[in-house]
Amino acid sequence: MKRFLVRVRDAFALRCNFCLLALLALPMSAQTNPASPSSTAPAHFAFPPADLMNIGVYYYPEAWPAEQWSRDFANIKKLGMEFVHMGEFSWAFMEPTEGHFDFAWLDRAIQLATDQGLKVVLCTPTPAPPVWLTSAHPEILMIDANGRQMQHGTRQQASWSVPLYRQYVAKIVHELGKRYGQDPRIWGWQLDNELTHYGKEPDYGPESQTSFRAWLQKKYGTVANLNRDWGNAFWSQMYQTFDQIRIPNQLEQVAQMNPHAILDSQRWFADETADYLRFQTDILREYCGHRQWITTNHIHNFPAVNPVLNGKDFDVVSWTHYPVHGNANRGPLGFRLGDSAVISFAGDFMRSINGQAGVMELQPGQVNWGDVNPQPYPGAVHLWIMRTFATGSKFVCTYRYREPLSGAEQYHYGLVGTDGVTPTNGGEQYAQAARELVQLRTLAKPNAPLPAAYAARRTAILYSYEDRWEVDNHKQNKDWDTYEHVLKYYRAAKRAGAPVDVITEDKDFSAYPFLIAPAYQMLDAQLVARWKAYVEAGGHLILTARTGQKDRRGHLWEGPWAMPVLDLIGAKIKFYDTLPAPNVAHVKAGDQTHEWFTWGDVLDPQPGTQTLATYSDQYYAGGVAATTRALGKGTVTYIGVDSVTGDLEAQLLGDVLKKAGAKPEQFADGFSVDFRDGLWIATNFTEKTQRAPIPAGKRPVIGNADVPIAGVAVWQE
Ligand code: GAL
Repeated sequence: MKRFLVRVRDAFALRCNFCLLALLALPMSAQTNPASPSSTAPAHFAFPPADLMNIGVYYYPEAWPAEQWSRDFANIKKLGMEFVHMGEFSWAFMEPTEGHFDFAWLDRAIQLATDQGLKVVLCTPTPAPPVWLTSAHPEILMIDANGRQMQHGTRQQASWSVPLYRQYVAKIVHELGKRYGQDPRIWGWQLDNELTHYGKEPDYGPESQTSFRAWLQKKYGTVANLNRDWGNAFWSQMYQTFDQIRIPNQLEQVAQMNPHAILDSQRWFADETADYLRFQTDILREYCGHRQWITTNHIHNFPAVNPVLNGKDFDVVSWTHYPVHGNANRGPLGFRLGDSAVISFAGDFMRSINGQAGVMELQPGQVNWGDVNPQPYPGAVHLWIMRTFATGSKFVCTYRYREPLSGAEQYHYGLVGTDGVTPTNGGEQYAQAARELVQLRTLAKPNAPLPAAYAARRTAILYSYEDRWEVDNHKQNKDWDTYEHVLKYYRAAKRAGAPVDVITEDKDFSAYPFLIAPAYQMLDAQLVARWKAYVEAGGHLILTARTGQKDRRGHLWEGPWAMPVLDLIGAKIKFYDTLPAPNVAHVKAGDQTHEWFTWGDVLDPQPGTQTLATYSDQYYAGGVAATTRALGKGTVTYIGVDSVTGDLEAQLLGDVLKKAGAKPEQFADGFSVDFRDGLWIATNFTEKTQRAPIPAGKRPVIGNADVPIAGVAVWQE
């Protein structure tokens, strides 16, 4: 620890007193571990740091002949897997008829896995209610936006807003807790599965309507308050009682919907889902306390369900990711390689929630459910595993062990192919990663401090689901995409070689020399005051287009555009413009010109504020697009334009780091270098070989300094 502080002091003393003060103010764990952001609630179940990252796989014993189980577990072990994940869809087997539970088959599978030295992750089977339940109680089935009731025949067709469904859920979760909550063979729990209703969210059934109304009543107290905050005076939308309100559903409405009603319905749905997860967590905790960990498997970027809301309920925040399923991604090989920033952003966000994150599902190869399902690039599966490792993951689990011969997921790769025993190409890459993790455990320095030059670039991105919903509900240009806008800054930070935490407002900003709030549209005076204090103490704040335009209700200010941030940025926003594609306009920063069309603020800098970029065309050519100013010991930069490629954002962020003495790298977009536990990890998602910045005299322990496409290099500090 001492050695770290001395190194930090040396590196920072002259050029960044603020950073040092901020680092010294951090709790010990956050100073030494990149995976522990400041002020996170202590995680209850602590994964042993020396394990680095455990590796495992999904297995469905109920779907394979029992006589094959012991062979399969033995082969899973042989591939180097350390845990198996079972049970999330097996309610029909656990409770074959109402109130009659059968766990004998599961006991046997758990024992066979344990005999092989595999840890077991068990799941609550609640995404797949058995047919006896839905036939007896069709009222538990969700109703979609068209008013159609979903039926048995797939999964996740029940509504977690229906109290009767929750009663059945409670029963099975209690049974599982009773039986396995004290069982040392069980390592942890996954609740349900990717809670989303598979694109049909939310449920519009009567119980959900009641729940939404109750949520509104709690929030507003009186209908008069709701009418005021929803702007219901317009178009005679005035309600007289809460009972008259329905979940906004475009299929029931002829003209555009009320944006405040939509925002509240999004808040309600996220709260409702979090409440359902908490409901299951509370039951399991009665039995397992924190001896076993609890999580759910959030989809990596599914904005309707907000993982932050369960940050305190779960020991570890876990997520699922399928990088390649026919999506174009970036670059000519993106459809085979996936997108480095998308994976890393999810890792840096999920980890920042409570300090511990894991990847619960990671693609093992070709999948079946995309519009087009190409083969991943050779080595890409290994690349994804090592990228999740680089983001501080505590575990990585792949979906699934065996390629299914029947059912909805035919053609989905597993670690072994259709014969049930021969490793697929992805299986071999998993085995390779498993061997490497064993090797890395002998070379790692768990919780080693961040090297000073890397720590000096530490960047936080302030991210809010509510804000993302709000901006996307009223884009002003159909091609505007809030997530992509945020990702442009994330990519910029990774190109500069920064360690990034994607944080929410409950976190302490002072831990970070650089804080970016991209398109942070809804705010209040307290947040602006926190930003100001952060900057005055020496922080470098970067605000971007659309930030501060509305209050927390989603109302525009009765005053100039973005009124509360104008003093902070040292400029006025005269107006904004946006162009219909395929028109593009241009913005010039230094000697570089960039294209834009989705959003451009035209600024009026006040005395003392410097211009960083100007518009090169349109009727406001010469108008100001980006500014910076000094304030106290820090700086505030405002970037009011959203460029097409993100190169403008990378250029301007690189300049902010440089001016602050943080020596940005200039990595290619998609080539990332990160540090954890005494190890540097470089991953290459670009279409060219990239050179890893390995100091002279050092040899990588994995890969080479020239990192090929889909390649990985790891070296010791
Ligand atoms: C995930 C889901 C799994 C499985 C997988 C197939 O989104 O959670 O249950 O369906 O996709 O790729």
